[in-house]
Amino acid sequence: MRYVSAVHDDGYFDEPVAARYDESSAEMFDPAVVDPLVDFLVALAGTGRALELGIGTGRIALPLARRGVPVHGVDVSEAMVARLRAKPGGEDIGVTIGDFATTTVDGSFSVAYLVFNTIMNLTTQAAQVACFRNVAAHLAPGGCFVIEVGVPDLQRLPPGETIRAFDVSGTHWGIDEYDVAKQALTSHHIEIVDGRAVRFSAPYRYVWPSELDLMAELAGMALRERWAGWKREPFTSESRKHVSVWDKPAV
Ligand SMILES: C[S@@+](CC[C@H](N)C(=O)[O-])C[C@H]1O[C@@H](n2cnc3c(N)ncnc32)[C@H](O)[C@@H]1O
Repeated sequence: MRYVSAVHDDGYFDEPVAARYDESSAEMFDPAVVDPLVDFLVALAGTGRALELGIGTGRIALPLARRGVPVHGVDVSEAMVARLRAKPGGEDIGVTIGDFATTTVDGSFSVAYLVFNTIMNLTTQAAQVACFRNVAAHLAPGGCFVIEVGVPDLQRLPPGETIRAFDVSGTHWGIDEYDVAKQALTSHHIEIVDGRAVRFSAPYRYVWPSELDLMAELAGMALRERWAGWKREPFTSESRKHVSVWDKPAV
């Protein structure tokens, strides 16, 4: 069945969120986080181009482009892309505004990537499947798709409970609210900004590694490797996230 996008305007990453994104995600901009990720993608890109789904403010696209990999991005949020554009090198990166589950761009790519749990921003299974199919259509033969996403945290949710705090600090409270029957969660953030509490909530669809493998298969791809992190740490029963790579056949 054909999936029709339901994403409009800037989505959940609108002007107020975009204005604070780099600051509120500061630990994700640390070179200790970014450099191994970029090394991983540089090796996969080879001499080809990279497609970033959900390019945001360019946390990964900019350092990847600086390493000589031509990057094109897709994002639904004009507000996020405006922050990318304002950074050195940001004007040189091609961006298509739209839903990355359905938006098409010109040319083909040796690697497509979707990091920082962003596959979960697609809140239905149909949208996630459409995303895999869309990526496969953009990959050159032998190209690959990389996803970084958390392993669903259900082992930590006692039976009958729906609420789990994932971050409690002096300036931020993060609380996930689960709807297990719908394989859905809403992340609630309460952040102290200039002495005032600011609330942000957004819906997600958590997704299992095996389910992603099946989505890849539906799109004509197959799992090449799965790690617990960008330094190729082994993926085990204790891993809280995974970095997975699926191949499009070479012929
Ligand atoms: C968590 S941010 C990640 C940004 C960037 N990849 C990074 O690692 O910093 C998620 C980004 O994906 C975009 N996004 C979420 N759902 C999307 C969709 N369905 N289509 C296009 N962009 C989407 C948001 O606008 C936002 O810029």
